[in-house]
Amino acid sequence: MVDHSFAIIGTGSYAPERVMTNDDLAKKVDTSDEWIISRTGIKQRHIAAEDENTSDLAAHAAKAALDDAGLAPDKIDLLIVATVTGDMPMPATACIVQAKLGIPSHAACFDVQAACSGFIYGLDTAWAMLQSGRYQHALVIGAEKFSSVLDWTDRGTCVLFGDAAGAVVVGPRFADSTAEIVGTKLYSDGGNTDLLCIPGGGSSHPQPGEGVPPRHLLMKGREVFKFAVREMEDAARDILEQHNISADEVTCVIPHQANLRIIDAIALYLKIPVERFYVNLDRFGNTSAASIPLAIDEARRLGRVKPGDLTLFVAFGAGLTYGSALVRW
Ligand code: ACO
Repeated sequence: MVDHSFAIIGTGSYAPERVMTNDDLAKKVDTSDEWIISRTGIKQRHIAAEDENTSDLAAHAAKAALDDAGLAPDKIDLLIVATVTGDMPMPATACIVQAKLGIPSHAACFDVQAACSGFIYGLDTAWAMLQSGRYQHALVIGAEKFSSVLDWTDRGTCVLFGDAAGAVVVGPRFADSTAEIVGTKLYSDGGNTDLLCIPGGGSSHPQPGEGVPPRHLLMKGREVFKFAVREMEDAARDILEQHNISADEVTCVIPHQANLRIIDAIALYLKIPVERFYVNLDRFGNTSAASIPLAIDEARRLGRVKPGDLTLFVAFGAGLTYGSALVRW
């Protein structure tokens, strides 16, 4: 029996083999395991090999999600990759992933760029396109080789990030598949683009050279921290109110994995016990657009989300963008 809603029908994830611990980082920059853990909760991160591109990470995660869904690649007619570290400015990484997965040309393939909120932006877009009735099965992937845009001499940023990918297959909801997408909500505050940016490499500063900003992440950490707590709290409250759901009913929160202190603060303000928040940033660091789908896949595999559970996804990122989604498993 089919109803007319859509569900997450498969999940997958991938992290590169190489692990970089805080002690490894302390050999490169003036930092320590103690500082990084106490300020962020991060213990290690995965770093892609030089010849391993964002599309490779994405394709690994997507294959796992397709296998999990029991779906052949030719059934996908919509492929969205959320990333800020695509293989190159053109073509879209989604097209490169399409070729790697063998998805035929009937599929629409494109990237979305909303930094760490990218997966929620991609999920919202896919859901709306599926609801239009013109698409059947979507692959939504969050993938980042964030190590490629870090200044490895800047201890204020290089300790925070890692490389990974996560993917979900979204398709028609059958009676026996319960992971229904209940709602999504997106936001953007374009008045604060300078708080988190990669200033070089775009049309305003296309070529490297003297006086030209680098193709490296620049961040005003304290301001971003305050924004993250305030806006993720708002995004969570809004979507719960919109669907008439109380915070008590949320069995699992999968937040963007940036900083344990940010997660602790949100848990406190939302009055949701912190034990209900799924956290894996200690092992992966901040993997930007990959962070939520990577955590969704892990949480499912570890039995942290079970049929009937109501899960809240909430994210923030450069833009500044933020957003939330509700899924009933
Ligand atoms: N090791 C040791 N010391 C450090 C390090 C480090 N890795 N980094 C900074 N410090 C020093 C600073 O130089 C400063 O020293 P000073 O007091 O002598 O000047 C001191 O530690 C305190 O620095 P703060 O920046 O004030 O430290 P804070 O407690 O704010 O923590 C952090 C910094 C972890 C970056 C925090 O502000 C944060 O998490 N902000 C949010 C960042 C975030 O979530 N980014 C995600 C972006 S999402 C996206 O879209 C990409």
